[in-house]
Amino acid sequence: MMNSNWFPKHMRTSEALLRKNLKAADVIFEILDARIPFCSRDERIDLITREKPRIVVLNKCDLSDDESDRKWVAHYEKMGAKSVAVSAIRGTGVKKLIKLAHGALHAKISKLHGISDRKKAVVAMVVGIPNVGKSTLINAIAGKKKTKIANKPGVTKVKQRVTTHRQLELLDTPGILWPRESEEIFESLALIGAVKDELLDLETLSISLLAKLMNLAPANLGKQYQIDIHGQPSLALLERIAMKRGCIRKNKNIDYMRVSRIVLGDFRKGKFGKITLEMPEDNC
Ligand code: G4P
Repeated sequence: MMNSNWFPKHMRTSEALLRKNLKAADVIFEILDARIPFCSRDERIDLITREKPRIVVLNKCDLSDDESDRKWVAHYEKMGAKSVAVSAIRGTGVKKLIKLAHGALHAKISKLHGISDRKKAVVAMVVGIPNVGKSTLINAIAGKKKTKIANKPGVTKVKQRVTTHRQLELLDTPGILWPRESEEIFESLALIGAVKDELLDLETLSISLLAKLMNLAPANLGKQYQIDIHGQPSLALLERIAMKRGCIRKNKNIDYMRVSRIVLGDFRKGKFGKITLEMPEDNC
C-alpha cells in the first residue's frame, strides 16, 4: 500500500553528525510525538545516544490525551529515563524540561566529583525523527527564532548550537527517519505528517484514520462534519464527508484525494480533540 523507499546518503551523513555531536552533550532530549510515542521513537537514535542521560520529551501534548500522556511519562520513568509532556508551540512543560536537564547534569557531576557545580551550563542534544517539533522546542527554550535550514520530512538540517539564557546550550541535530519495516508504524508516522504526503496513498490513510477515530473520538468526528457516523463503514463515511464538504468533481464523482486531505489535515490540527493513538500497554 505505502512506499517506504526514500533516503540513503543523507542518512549516513546525519548519523555521523549525531555521533560527533554526542561527545559534547551532557544530556539527550529525545523528542517524541505525544500522539504516537511508540512509533515516533527511533530505535537507531536510541541505540546511538544510549550512553548519555536521557529525557524523553512527549511533544505536541496540546494534541494528545492528558491521561495517556501521564501513562507514557510513567512508562518511560519506569524504564529509567526522565520524561515530560510538552507543548513547544504553547510553552507548556518547558520549565519542567529545563529543570530536569539541570537535575540530570548535577546528578552526573555529583556522581563523578561528589559535588555539583550549579553554574555550569547544561549541553543538551536534541534528537528525534523529522516533524516532531525539535526546532519549535529549541525556539521555545531559547526564546528566539533560529534559522531553519530545511523542514521537510526526510531532509536533513545543518547542525546548530543554540545558546540560551537558561544555563542551557542546545545542540540541534538533523531529523533522521530510518526506513521502517512495519506497515503499521509507517502508517502512524504518516498520520502525524512525519512522512512526505507525496509518498503516501492518502485515500487509504484517511479511511484507516476514520476507523480509528470512530473508536477514539466518535462524538467529535460526527460534530466536526455534522454527520451521523453510527453503523457506517469508513469508506462510506469518507464519501459522506466529501458530500458535506463539496468534494465532488465536475463529472459528479467524489474527489477522494481532496476529501482525504481535509480529514488528514483536520486530524493533524487537532480538530477531533486531544487524541493519543498508542498506549504503552498495547505497544511496549
Ligand atoms: P522538526 O524540527 O522536528 O522537524 O519539527 P518542527 O519544529 O519544524 O515542527 C514541525 C511542525 O510541528 C510545525 O508545523 C510546528 O509548528 C509543529 N509543532 C511543533 N511543536 C508543536 C506543538 O507542541 N504542538 C503543535 N500542535 N504543533 C507543534 P508547521 O509549521 O505547520 O509545519 P508542517 O507541519 O506544515 O511541516
